[in-house]
Amino acid sequence: PLRIAVLASGRGSNLQALIQARAAGALPVDFVLVGSDKADAGALRHAHEAGIATFFLDPKDFADRRAYDAALFERIAASGAELVVLAGFMRILDGAVLAPWVGRVINIHPSLLPRYRGLHTHRRALAAGDAEHGTSVHYVTSELDGGPVIAQARLAILPGDDEQTLAARVLALEHRLLPAVVALIAQRRLRHLAPDGVALDGHRLAAPLV
Ligand code: GAR
Repeated sequence: PLRIAVLASGRGSNLQALIQARAAGALPVDFVLVGSDKADAGALRHAHEAGIATFFLDPKDFADRRAYDAALFERIAASGAELVVLAGFMRILDGAVLAPWVGRVINIHPSLLPRYRGLHTHRRALAAGDAEHGTSVHYVTSELDGGPVIAQARLAILPGDDEQTLAARVLALEHRLLPAVVALIAQRRLRHLAPDGVALDGHRLAAPLV
């Protein structure tokens, strides 16, 4: 099984979807570590209940982002993780710390990237009058929600939709998309966007898994 670490800042429903997929036999991974920048993250509770090792690192204890991210990735490296999954981890990662990990860190984001990087994606999709919305899983670079997209799931925005109804339907899509992408990686069935390991936006994938 692929050894994965998960970083999450919040509720942790995407982590929970991964845990459930594994329990159902649909995800050949071992969870080696779950980390958070929030002491009270629901994700830490879910991980604890599932018997997964957890840690909390407080950004306030570090001089700057690079120092924080270095400590974060030291923990991850020590865990033996082969893939890092950002599941609602609400921080941008330092480019120098991330560089040796590019290609081995993925993120889920609630929009059809490259539309609506950052926050309030559902509100922005509604305000723009979009017919469609959805979620993306992408390789992480130091650019916010900016790395190469691996897979997306989409839905139609309905006439009566508001931010809450849309958020709920996108979240349900996320709970299927993220385990599906992690399973592809775990089964070594994912091919990179370019055969030489250079992704479309010019970021070199440092250590591609396949
Ligand atoms: C998810 O919707 C995820 O796409 C989003 O945070 C939520 C976490 O929910 N991530 C981002 O916005 C990253 N830019 P969860 O804690 O219930 O998994």
